[in-house]
Amino acid sequence: MRIACVAGARPNFMKIKPVVDALDAAGATTDLIHTGQHYDAAMSDVFFDDLGLRAPEVHLGIGSGSHAEQTARIMIEFERHLETTPTDAVVVVGDVNSTLACSIVAAKAGLVVAHVEAGLRSRDWSMPEEVNRVVADRTADLLFAPSPDAVDNLRAEGYRADQIHLVGNVMIDTLLANTERARKRSTLDDLALAPGTYGVVTLHRPSNVDEPDVLGGLIGALNDISEHIPLVFPAHPRTAGKLTELGIAPSLRIIEPQGYLDFLALQAGAALVLTDSGGIQEETTALGVPCLTLRENTERPITISEGTNRLVGTDPTAIRSAASDVLSNRPAARCPALWDGRAGERIAAVLMAHLRSDDRRRPTDRA
Ligand code: UD1
Repeated sequence: MRIACVAGARPNFMKIKPVVDALDAAGATTDLIHTGQHYDAAMSDVFFDDLGLRAPEVHLGIGSGSHAEQTARIMIEFERHLETTPTDAVVVVGDVNSTLACSIVAAKAGLVVAHVEAGLRSRDWSMPEEVNRVVADRTADLLFAPSPDAVDNLRAEGYRADQIHLVGNVMIDTLLANTERARKRSTLDDLALAPGTYGVVTLHRPSNVDEPDVLGGLIGALNDISEHIPLVFPAHPRTAGKLTELGIAPSLRIIEPQGYLDFLALQAGAALVLTDSGGIQEETTALGVPCLTLRENTERPITISEGTNRLVGTDPTAIRSAASDVLSNRPAARCPALWDGRAGERIAAVLMAHLRSDDRRRPTDRA
């Protein structure tokens, strides 16, 4: 069985690692495909080093561009790869442009498509990730859901029961495998931070950083909070660029984007995290660290109902008040079922069984 495992952007690398490892252990031949959507050392190389992810067999070298340019370039190059490399199945993870592009190409090539992190829905069609995840699910034969709410979404959209597999969260597989290593690093000492005495900020969503009024309001609230507790802000290149372009000089502490282990160490030691990331809502829940999500919606409601996340929106007054509340009343740590470090193994078992069954010889029969 030859299986292409696709990763392209920063949050994909930690999701694909446990899947590749489990497929290799199950006897598959895996090709790790790096689309090159993220290419800076700090956005890509450091994750391969930190995670012990092998060098990709294939690097498509796509780089940045508009959504259409980036998606189209990935599609062209991935189709060329599949034309020359006999492949049985393609695994895509998450909701980035690489996920969308490769799932469409694989479906049209008649291959088995597996989507890891299927069924998440923000119901906010202004988010490029919502388009990506809905289309990736639609092209997939196998839908690997991280949580029961994702299963409910897929059922409501009419997917067949035999396509949907509740397997848990691959991002948490990687987190659990690395938390102790991360805690032993000198990250906090190097930044002169003591555990439990600081907050961590990340912001990169276009809806937050591309609108000057929204970004200005968020930075104003964060500046105020940083008068009570030091905040460190590893800035995504998109955000760093916008702050420079708009002449906004935050008083909180901006640092370079961090590698996987250093960022994990920062999260694990934080008194609170303020973010617009999807994955960080999940990681803080698994770590039991309070998280304030600076968005109007989340595709990961389970981190609110069964975790430490609170959806705060982008209103500066609401953010200041939620931060003060969480700092004085730390929410109890709790974690959703099956976020136990074994999601990759469950995915490999289902995918290998599917490829060995007669189903793969039939014309694809998607819902
Ligand atoms: C992408 C994902 C988003 C994910 C995020 C994590 C999509 C639609 N969005 O957003 O879901 O949460 O990655 O970071 O796929 N850039 C660099 N160096 C890099 C990569 C990008 O400087 O290595 C800059 C470029 O100016 C680029 C911009 O960041 O134009 C945006 O990159 P892009 O990959 O288009 O989207 P992200 O905002 O990173």
